[in-house]
Amino acid sequence: MIRDLTDEEARRALVLKWGMTEPGVIPAWVAEMDYAPADVVTDALLEAVRSGRTSYPAYEFGGELGRAYADWAARQFGHTVDPGHVLPVVDVTAGMRFALDVLCEDAPVVMPVPAYSPQLEVAEVTGRKRVDLVVDADADRAGIDLGALAGALADGARTLILTQPHNPWGRVFTRGELEGIRDVVVHHGARVISDEIHAPLVLPGAEHISYLALDGTAEHAVALVAASKAFNTAGLKCAQILTGDDATRDRLLDAPLARNDSWSTLGVVAAIAAYNHGDPWLAALVERLDQQRTLLAQLLATHLPLARMRPLEATYLAWLDLRAYGHDDPASICLSRGRVRLAAGHDYHPGSTGHVRVNIATSPARLTDIVHRMAKSLTA
Ligand SMILES: Cc1ncc(COP(=O)(O)O)c(C=O)c1O
Repeated sequence: MIRDLTDEEARRALVLKWGMTEPGVIPAWVAEMDYAPADVVTDALLEAVRSGRTSYPAYEFGGELGRAYADWAARQFGHTVDPGHVLPVVDVTAGMRFALDVLCEDAPVVMPVPAYSPQLEVAEVTGRKRVDLVVDADADRAGIDLGALAGALADGARTLILTQPHNPWGRVFTRGELEGIRDVVVHHGARVISDEIHAPLVLPGAEHISYLALDGTAEHAVALVAASKAFNTAGLKCAQILTGDDATRDRLLDAPLARNDSWSTLGVVAAIAAYNHGDPWLAALVERLDQQRTLLAQLLATHLPLARMRPLEATYLAWLDLRAYGHDDPASICLSRGRVRLAAGHDYHPGSTGHVRVNIATSPARLTDIVHRMAKSLTA
């Protein structure tokens, strides 16, 4: 069910990941997958275009998209969502900005770092200061330091940006961890914006729990979700913001349209198709990613034994600690010497050295080539 794109197909389809990478260089950077899209999504899009569905999208909480997401969340995560609490937004990062603007106090925003790099600036563009909560690079299992979170909130921060599952750590926070975060947030009267775009990509061994599924979070949190990461449809521009209660929904609905960049009609079509009919394809994808995760561990053990990879619990983005190889910027060494394009760790945590993020959503042969090239570059 999962079909690997050839290099030529990938270069045509993935115009950022492959199209903006020099021929001969293997791209393993931006979070897109080298797989053909799910037929159920392609068929729905073709049908929509043929019937002229290129109009403005509906502006509504709920509707067909709300129902599709609610059914999906119930099946996939056992999470009961009110369809009327689902609002489309253009993408997750814009939805985060929208939620900050409309819902959050004009006060500093706590951002655990390393973090998905475009979101490092989201607090600042809404006129708020970012307060970094730096994860211990030596910890065996990255987590949120509750004492540091409490300190930041006591010092005046009012919002926590949570990424659950986390990119780039690959962590899926447990119920206990999430409850600990919730208790600190509630104690300080703060808000949470929970980016859950990677939730469909939880790998065997872990379980996704939406922050909004915890008791006592409905009034202070929203979650951002999307089918786009799991179904490779980021360019179609449609994510969703979930609220836990009517009051939060009404505040978002009452916000001037000019604050919320519009999502696309075809993005809605793709999301509905993925949520309603994508389960078998997603199951095959997760199986493939699980195999790729195992392959990566084997390849690293053989070719880069000093690399440290924390358990990859979700996503296809492995966060590697390569400090033992002695290069501050291993991504640039791998690009210049090995012709493989990785994401540099310092993009996710300014100032940190020696880390890279490797995208493993490709064929086993390409992943093998990627690690061979990295090993040649770093041990030369
Ligand atoms: C944690 C996280 N949030 C958001 C995004 C991007 O989502 P969008 O394109 O919908 O803003 C990514 C992309 O990889 C991501 O890793």
